[in-house]
Amino acid sequence: MSRRISLGVIGLGSIAQIQHLPNLARLDDLFSVKAVADISPSLNEAIADRLPGEVFTSTDWRDVCSHPDVEAVLLLTSGAHEQLTDGALRAGKHVFSEKPLCLTVEGAERLHTLASKRGLALQVGYMKLHEEVLAELRDALEKVGDLRLFRHTVYHPEDSVCLGPAETIRFDDIDHGIISEAAAFEQKRTVEALGDLPAEWGRLYREVVAASFVHCVSFIRGVVGSLPRLTSADMWRPSPSEPPCILARGVYPDHSRVEMTWLWLPSYPAYRESFEAHGTQGSVQLRFPNPYMRDRTASLTVNTKDTVARHPGGKQSAFVRELRHFHRAITTGEHPDDALGAREDTAWMQDLVAALARGHGLRAAGEAGRRR
Ligand SMILES: NC(=O)c1ccc[n+]([C@@H]2O[C@H](COP(=O)([O-])OP(=O)(O)OC[C@H]3O[C@@H](n4cnc5c(N)ncnc54)[C@H](O)[C@@H]3O)[C@@H](O)[C@H]2O)c1
Repeated sequence: MSRRISLGVIGLGSIAQIQHLPNLARLDDLFSVKAVADISPSLNEAIADRLPGEVFTSTDWRDVCSHPDVEAVLLLTSGAHEQLTDGALRAGKHVFSEKPLCLTVEGAERLHTLASKRGLALQVGYMKLHEEVLAELRDALEKVGDLRLFRHTVYHPEDSVCLGPAETIRFDDIDHGIISEAAAFEQKRTVEALGDLPAEWGRLYREVVAASFVHCVSFIRGVVGSLPRLTSADMWRPSPSEPPCILARGVYPDHSRVEMTWLWLPSYPAYRESFEAHGTQGSVQLRFPNPYMRDRTASLTVNTKDTVARHPGGKQSAFVRELRHFHRAITTGEHPDDALGAREDTAWMQDLVAALARGHGLRAAGEAGRRR
């Protein structure tokens, strides 16, 4: 019999309502939600009403972290999660943090050390690395000869297209003071990361690169085992009010090349994302599902001499599998080293923004500047 973990869930917006809360309800042999926190009191009440049993609610995440019935927390708030992760670990709770974990390399290192010293699990929501078909992908990478090129592409339409028919509830009784406080903290961390670049570069770092491009970076790192050396970075957009398209290129020591492309395509018919690897004897292609659609899995196609093998993907979504992984980490004590991965990703993403800024005649300082 597996032990049920009592959870606190902090942040009850889109990804909580579309993925994590419904998935937790299905995994009720592994988890029970005992406490929730959002800065909207009405949202807290509405979500608590839908959950089984007595559920503690608060607009202050610290109350959930210090709750004696809570053993672990899911951090699903907007933005990065350094402050909340730090607070939860210090309160003795295991942490699952949605990505991005934090904005600085120093932050990722510190959180890793804190979790290790306290013997607590710290997992980051890199759910793409939990796709069931990854075992087949790793096998296939061994069979396509010497690898020459990896390509990760995101086709990102505007949010209403990504969310599709998914229905979420929202209220406007939020505490704007907490939002401003969190924004000031992130602004400070952005300066530590990149120095005093003009504000739009900080927004690019936080809102596009660390918030979404991070999936390309963490996936390549997780599959290959390391990140390539960044060789070029390009960014273009039709108007300054729109998110940009980004193309980053890199190289591994064995000369294989990497292309990561994040395309802002506002009216594109659907969210798409793919990973390809091309070798001297064949190719593999992984197609990821839209993260806002439940129960979808990535599928794999492997082209080798004379054969095309298709793997339709597993039975459980990557979001479900990452929760199972979190449960296993807590109950076995085999803790993931996701914060160390986040440290690598953060450094790489800072270098990417620094390279993009250089293309506009600007010089990043901070952590990015010290690595040059
Ligand atoms: N893994 C994925 O593919 C994926 C997809 C979407 C979002 N995400 C991540 O999930 C997180 C949430 O994204 P979302 O789309 O659900 O955002 P959202 O804005 O819909 O929801 C965030 C919720 O957090 C609440 N909140 C904000 N600050 C808070 C605080 N200090 N204390 C308590 N509640 C607070 C907000 O009121 C809101 O309800 C982000 O970190 C995002 O990067 C991951």
